[in-house]
Amino acid sequence: MFRIDRNLTADELHKSLRADVAEGLTARPKRLPPKWFYDEHGSSLFEEITGLPEYYPTRTERAILEERSDEIARAADAVALIELGSGSGVKTRLLLDALGRHGTLKRFVPVDVSGDFLAASARRVADDHPGLDVHAVVGDFEHHLGLLPVNEHDGREMLAVLGSTIGNQAPAARGVFLRAVHAALDPGDTLLLGADLVKDPERLVAAYDDAQGVTAAFDRNVLTVINQRLGGDFDPGAFDHVAVWDPEREWIEMRLRARSHQRVRVADLDLEVDFAAGEEMRTEISAKFRRDGLTAELDAAGFTLTHWWTDPAGDFALSLSTVR
Ligand code: SAH
Ligand code: TRP
Repeated sequence: MFRIDRNLTADELHKSLRADVAEGLTARPKRLPPKWFYDEHGSSLFEEITGLPEYYPTRTERAILEERSDEIARAADAVALIELGSGSGVKTRLLLDALGRHGTLKRFVPVDVSGDFLAASARRVADDHPGLDVHAVVGDFEHHLGLLPVNEHDGREMLAVLGSTIGNQAPAARGVFLRAVHAALDPGDTLLLGADLVKDPERLVAAYDDAQGVTAAFDRNVLTVINQRLGGDFDPGAFDHVAVWDPEREWIEMRLRARSHQRVRVADLDLEVDFAAGEEMRTEISAKFRRDGLTAELDAAGFTLTHWWTDPAGDFALSLSTVR
């Protein structure tokens, strides 16, 4: 069974891109919000990142899931799996298979802003799992959690946010997000959260600035998205990709730095902006976590952390929390 809901029509997506870009390009320092990385091309560049030697999070999280998925399924005892920012859904299959073996699973709800990519990957899941009710939702998890088809079944639900996507929000936004997730669920439902952990800054920087330049291409793709969708005339080649570790806030910050003075017009916004030579624009953060800090953030949002699984090196954590 397969169906897809569009909480976000192409028109709404365009409106929200316009507002974000107008605000970000006129802010000081300039910034762009990360969800606009993921057009069709961006989503496939991200898939390429997940296979890079420097980018350890995906394969580490997958290894934890391979080892623990049956334990997770027993603890969650869920009739439905809702996944926010599901992307290609490769790791999700491990969860679906384990919940299938556990015998409770009826429905899968993948949610993503990248509509075409989501439709293709959700359809593949539906084809491979006859009998599973796959209900994909194109939506923005920062705004549309109230619209999700959750709690329509008797039984517990598990909501998963994998890939340390939670770390792409700053702490205040994360608090708002976790409370919204809590509000969408019922007591006894669970949250499965993948979180990348604080480690040697050299390894962290390499993971976000790989030798082949795939991450750099991914970062610059946001400029191409603006060119294509809003009639911009960015020269992506005139910007360098920069990844820096902020030791106080314990996050990686990604920026695009103008190599020389750039004057950019964005026709649809009737906007002209200047970048000084060397000026940096923030495109993404990727926060790294510690067990105590994440437990406290979850607790503040109404969740009780019950399980914490890591790889032997302690690079990445999967946690399971219950809605109080
Ligand atoms: N879960 C996958 C993909 C992580 S990449 C993995 O672990 O490999 C982050 C995913 O979240 C992308 O597919 C992107 O399109 C999606 N995404 C980013 N911001 C979003 C938002 N605000 N609302 C919905 N999806 C979002
Ligand atoms: N959630 C991923 C992370 O923080 C997203 C990501 C990986 C990313 N590499 C990136 C985002 C490069 C922007 C640029 O690890």
